[in-house]
Amino acid sequence: MKAVVYHSYGSPDVLKVEEIEKPTVTEDGVLVRIHASSVNPAEWYGMTGLVVARLQSGLFKPKDSRIGGDFAGVVEAIGGKVTHLKPGDEVYGGRNGAFAEYVSVINAVVRKPVNLTFEEAAAVPTAGITALQGLRDHGKVKPGDKVLVNGAAGGVGTFAVQIAKALGAEVTGVTSTKNMELVRSLGADHVVDYTKDDFTRTGKQYDLIFDIAGSRTWKEYKRALKPNANFVIVGAPKGNKVLGPLARIFNLKLASIGASQKISFFIAQFNRPDLDILREMIESGKVKPIVEKVYPLANVVEAMTHLGTGHARGKIVLKVK
Ligand SMILES: NC(=O)c1ccc[n+]([C@@H]2O[C@H](COP(=O)([O-])OP(=O)(O)OC[C@H]3O[C@@H](n4cnc5c(N)ncnc54)[C@H](OP(=O)(O)O)[C@@H]3O)[C@@H](O)[C@H]2O)c1
Repeated sequence: MKAVVYHSYGSPDVLKVEEIEKPTVTEDGVLVRIHASSVNPAEWYGMTGLVVARLQSGLFKPKDSRIGGDFAGVVEAIGGKVTHLKPGDEVYGGRNGAFAEYVSVINAVVRKPVNLTFEEAAAVPTAGITALQGLRDHGKVKPGDKVLVNGAAGGVGTFAVQIAKALGAEVTGVTSTKNMELVRSLGADHVVDYTKDDFTRTGKQYDLIFDIAGSRTWKEYKRALKPNANFVIVGAPKGNKVLGPLARIFNLKLASIGASQKISFFIAQFNRPDLDILREMIESGKVKPIVEKVYPLANVVEAMTHLGTGHARGKIVLKVK
């Protein structure tokens, strides 16, 4: 089968489409013929090989040459112990190696939303789960809460605005001028253009800042937080080659020691129940994925370069079939 692989760390041109062996189905697994995948910053960091992660991922070159996390496709075969899916089912989920024609996956695979194309469904897993788990489990969003999403127009942000609304919050989205309309169209009650206005100096305070962009200092964020607010660190700018975004995340955690607000950082985890919740939100019309551009798998270098600008508008998708 065709799959994207990389044999050295570096910029997007280390990614190559090669013929590799097709995976087989395990007793408790599902073999999926992938129709589409989507690109996430996690793949960017895997590809560039942050020094801090190399003990695990391979010191001088990647131990695992496969890449990709999100997929949507059709079940080709199931193992003997699998009861929740059958061959022919249209599914979506997450599994390393998803920039490929097939994946064999055990846990994170469920029926895909019926009202989405494969390209749209492939845009959901990582970004949707990050927004859902971050807002619900770490941000503890309640109806009526004032929530600010910093970085509202990207992959995670476009889901976060919609999911925060679905959870009953009053949502403020922070984005640049060109994406103001998009963020408004997702249901944001207020939109701040960060190129013109400073949300930390308006006098408004929030119950939760959901910080995807990581663009401000703790001193600045604190001005915009109620004393008992939650502050959820989701992401940060790319940073240096050693620690990447982690340096900024550690700095924020350090600077906020002793604050009355609750500060958390989390790594989203794929699981079936949350993929099912996202499917329900999508089928009921509360949430829709925003896809900026679909690239053929063969153009993965271009797709990753696009993501690497840090200014994607919604999600970047790879069409596999
Ligand atoms: N913790 C986790 O489990 C987890 C999971 C997924 C992703 N992440 C992290 O979350 C971050 C975002 O991921 P993503 O998939 O959403 O990335 P993305 O699709 O590349 O989105 C980046 C967005 O950031 C916005 N942005 C850039 N500078 C900004 C600023 N100064 N203020 C406000 N918005 C700004 C851009 O909007 P404009 O073009 O309008 O500037 C763009 O829409 C990354 O750091 C990623 O590593 C964390």
